[in-house]
Parts: sequence; structure tokens; C-alpha cells
Amino acid sequence: MCGIIGYLGKGNAIDIVLRGLKRLEYRGYDSAGVAFFNGGDFEIRRCKGKIRDLEALIQVSLNSNLAVGHTRWATHGVPADHNAHPHCSDSVVLVHNGIIENYLVLKEELTSLGYQFTSETDTEVIVHLIEHFHRDMPLEEAVREATGRLHGAFALVVVSRKTPDMMVGVRKDSPLVMGISEDGYFLASDVPAFLEWTRRVVFLEDSEMAVVTPDGYRIVTFDGREVHRSPTTVDWTASMADKGGYRHYMLKEIHEQPSSIANTLRGRIDLSRMAVNPGEFMLPDGLLTSINRVFIVACGTSWHAGLVGKYMIESLCRIPVEVDLASEFRYRRSLISRGDLFVVITQSGETADTLAAQREAKRQGAFTLSICNVIGSSSAREADAVFYLHSGPEIGVASTKAFTSQLVALYLFSLLMAEARGQIDSSLRRQMLQDVMGIPEKVEGVLKRESEIEEMARRYSNSKDFLYLGRGILYPVALEGALKLKEISYIHAEGYPAGEMKHGPIALIDEQMPTVFLVQAGELRRKVFSNIEEVTARGGRVIVFKSEDVRDPIPSAEHIFEVPRTNEFLEPVLMAVPLQLLAYYIGVRKGYDVDQPRNLAKSVTVE
Ligand code: AGP
Repeated sequence: MCGIIGYLGKGNAIDIVLRGLKRLEYRGYDSAGVAFFNGGDFEIRRCKGKIRDLEALIQVSLNSNLAVGHTRWATHGVPADHNAHPHCSDSVVLVHNGIIENYLVLKEELTSLGYQFTSETDTEVIVHLIEHFHRDMPLEEAVREATGRLHGAFALVVVSRKTPDMMVGVRKDSPLVMGISEDGYFLASDVPAFLEWTRRVVFLEDSEMAVVTPDGYRIVTFDGREVHRSPTTVDWTASMADKGGYRHYMLKEIHEQPSSIANTLRGRIDLSRMAVNPGEFMLPDGLLTSINRVFIVACGTSWHAGLVGKYMIESLCRIPVEVDLASEFRYRRSLISRGDLFVVITQSGETADTLAAQREAKRQGAFTLSICNVIGSSSAREADAVFYLHSGPEIGVASTKAFTSQLVALYLFSLLMAEARGQIDSSLRRQMLQDVMGIPEKVEGVLKRESEIEEMARRYSNSKDFLYLGRGILYPVALEGALKLKEISYIHAEGYPAGEMKHGPIALIDEQMPTVFLVQAGELRRKVFSNIEEVTARGGRVIVFKSEDVRDPIPSAEHIFEVPRTNEFLEPVLMAVPLQLLAYYIGVRKGYDVDQPRNLAKSVTVE
């Protein structure tokens, strides 16, 4: 996910774009750049690093009436000066947020037409494609022609040396809004970018373009139909804007999960075959059929994702999976060998223990796959193969959207390996891929019931201890729910397999302590019901999160929260969301800094 902005007007476009980029830095911050019209041509300044590094490249005396800017979250091409936006061709200059799924095909076509590529980005195909059409047609038509060739998600702000008093915005599956002030016009990924200057906003819809000149703006659809849409006035304050209107990054990232999961899926499913695209995991041919064991090693929340992955892979691929904490694996004389696949799961790609484990496995000859969110991170660069989550920057220390994207990544991996090993028939594979494509909308449905969780948090925020219990594939989700609560509310919480309760934890049950049960449809639910009765028989307080397919009455529960039905392997994704919200609202009620909890760091880069 990246932040883009363009300004055309009487103000100092360079200054405005730089200040707007700072408001968008939460969207990505591994490199940045600005292009501005200097009266005769466009000048471009761009670099790896933060926006403050970019500012150092721009003389404060510079002024312009037209500028575009970009702050990057790398998806294709490592963070580097030459991969930073804006990208340009002969006359066209643009910034892009999104992922172009067919960029390799287009790159080949444009190269054969003589266009020179200087970056590893998918974005560069867009600028040369528009250039190609712009040779024979005005900018607006050239942009429209080009959008017809692009598959994927793209928000663009496009300018041209030929018409330096025009700015064209494009919205397709990536956000783009227009701001209108007395002095000029803004196009940006998000309202915060221009809130300092105006609260008058025109929201573009998908497959729409905005054509902006000093005399005004027009909105047209990709098929050329003009749309009349008046500005609305948003009631945001500038301070709220840094988090896209949310009170905390953590809440924003919880709410981003429908789109972050969609971005993890984007380009990974071959819709014509309804099968996982093997190229997306970058695994050599034959590897998935030749390995005889999978190791999954990670820390914290990522380790919980690995535990869920074990259930998926062993059940679907019938191959043994060993899941280990990286801090344990790295010091154990492990029995890893050439025939093993070694998977590390790491949001940051910089966790010291995970990197050490990955290096040890590689030294012992295992093939290493990194499931990672940060492009160009150490884990991603050193692994033999990498699967990027594309869930966008996760700022909040407590991992939320990365966790659900990790689960989706493991689900896709399991289906790919199950197909390769002949362990799944095409009809089940098709159904399971349909199921995962429906998850973003189901997560949206859970988020719409946020107020129920906020009310639950009000009732339990003074509890001193929590127990989270789940069976089977929901046991790791119980661990994750407990970790979320610990991390941001500092309440002691333990996750446990529900079947283990009688082997010790039941001694903790009293009238004060809430026990959270996760109940999945299927035969195991009856055993969880017995566990619930054992808790309430001792005066314990029970909160139940269950699939809507669990229809049995649970009269002794104080709260029951239903998540939409899905297949057994995707229930952890839907169950995680209300548990994230419960931890968040309890942490907020206790008045803690949920984005930067005490003693914690976003990435534990030291032992
Ligand atoms: C999760 O909420 C924590 N922030 C922490 O457990 C985290 O998952 C762990 O440090 C691993 O980080 P990584 O995924 O970046 O490797």
C-alpha cells in the first residue's frame, strides 16, 4: 500500500505535496518522491528512505503550480532510488498505488515496442503504456486507453509535459479522493493528505477518472461517460487524519482486514482454472511433490499462524508439519535435512530469532520459504523463495491484519501443495478457493458488529485474569486472543487447548475470571460444551465466540458472539477479528497506548 498525492493550483505545489505526503506516510515509508513542473519541464526528486530524506533533495526556494508525490510500500522491486515513484516516460509522469497483475505481459509487449525499463516495479508499465497512447491522443484519452489494458488494483495521478496544466486521477480498486480548495485541486489516496487546506471532498468511485485543470474538474467513467458529483464536507480534524480517521493505528488496521486480505489474494488465484497460481510462491518445479516434511518457525503472533498452518497442511496435504518457536529452534540441534521445506513466517522480516533460525536451516541444506509482509526485508532477501502478504504497512505493535493475511497465505499454500501431491480433487479445490474469496466480505460483516464487542469490553475490562480455550484449529486462535489481550491491556491471559482444562487450569476458575471459549461447528463442539459446563459449574463466567453453524443452545454463557459460517480451515480468520477488537477496546478502556504498548517493539530485531 502506498500514499499518492497531486496538486494543481495557485499554492506552492511542491510544499503542499511534501506536507501531504507526511500525512500519508502511515501508508508506506520505504521510499518517496516528488515530480513538479518548473515552467518548462517536469523535474523529479526521489529516494529510498523517509520523506525527510526526500526533503533534503529539494531546495526550499523551489515553487511550482503542479506537482505529484508518492510515499512507497514496496510490492514489486526492493526499496531503492530507481524503484521509487514518480516514474516517467518521454512526456508522461505518474504515481501509483496498487498492484498490476499483468505487468509482466505488458512489460514484454512494451519492451518489444522499444520502451526502456529502468526499475523492477510493476508501475513502470503503466507510464510507458500511457506514453504509447499519448503519442496520438490527448492525455485524458491516453489514460483511459491504458486503463483498459491493466488488470489489478491501481490509483493513479498522471501528468504530462505536453499539457502541464492538467492532472488526471484514476481509481480502480485502490482509493483516490479529490479535494477542492479556493486555490486549487488535490488528488490523493486519503483525505488526511489535504485536510490542512480543505475539507471539501469529492469521492471517486471505482473505474472513474478525474480530469483536473485550473478551470475545474470533470469526472468520467472508464468508458467515457461523464458523471456529475458535488463536493461533500468531511468533519475530520487534522489530528484524526494521521490514522485515516481512526483513533489508533491498531483499530485502523483491524478495519483494513477486508482490503488487506483481498490484497493478499490478489493475483494469487488463477480464476480460469480456479487454482492457486504456483508462480506466486516462487517454488522450483517438483519441490512440493519431493519434500517429506515441513518445518514452520516463527515468533509470537506469527508462530500462532504457523500452528494454524499445521492443521491446514497436515489435513489437506497429508505430510508431517513441525512448528517451532524460532528462539527454541535456533539453539536446538534440530534434525532438519535436505528433503525438508523450511517455512518462516514473519511480518517484519527482521525478527532476530526468526532470521537466525532461517539461516541455520539454510546452512543445513533445507529449502527456505519466507511468508513475509515487508518487501526487501532480510528474511525475504535471504530466503530461497518468498510469498509477500501485500497487507500494507502494519504500524500498530499488536499484529492484526498481518495475522489474518498469514492465515490466508498458509491456506493458499496448503491448497497449492495438496493439488501438487494429488491430495485434493478439483471440485473441493474450487469450493475452497470460492470460500476464501468470500472472506473479505465476511470479515466486513464481523466488523459491522463492532459495538457488541465494545459493550463486552465494558463488562470485562476490570478482570484480572482471562482464560482463552479452543480445540483443534481454534486452539492457536485461543493463544492469539490471549496474546492480543496481554499485549495491549496488560491483563494476564492464557490460551490453552480446551481439552487440557481439567489437567490444571480449571483450578483457576472462580466467579471473577472470564473464560473465552472458541467453538467450531462439528463433532468436537460437544466436548467444548462439556468444558463450558465444567467452568460454569464452578461459578466461572463464560464468553463464547462461535460459528453460526453451531446452533446448539449454550444457556450458561454470559455472552455469545457468532461469526459467519465458512469452511473449517478459514474459521480462524473470522474468529481472530472479534478477539482483536475485544483486546483493543479493553486496552482503550484501561487508558493504555494501544499502538505502542509498554516494553514492546514492533519488530524484535535483537535477541
Ligand atoms: C504480535 O502482536 C507481536 N507484536 C509479536 O508477537 C510479533 O508477532 C512477533 O514479534 C513476530 O514478529 P514478526 O512477525 O515481525 O516476525
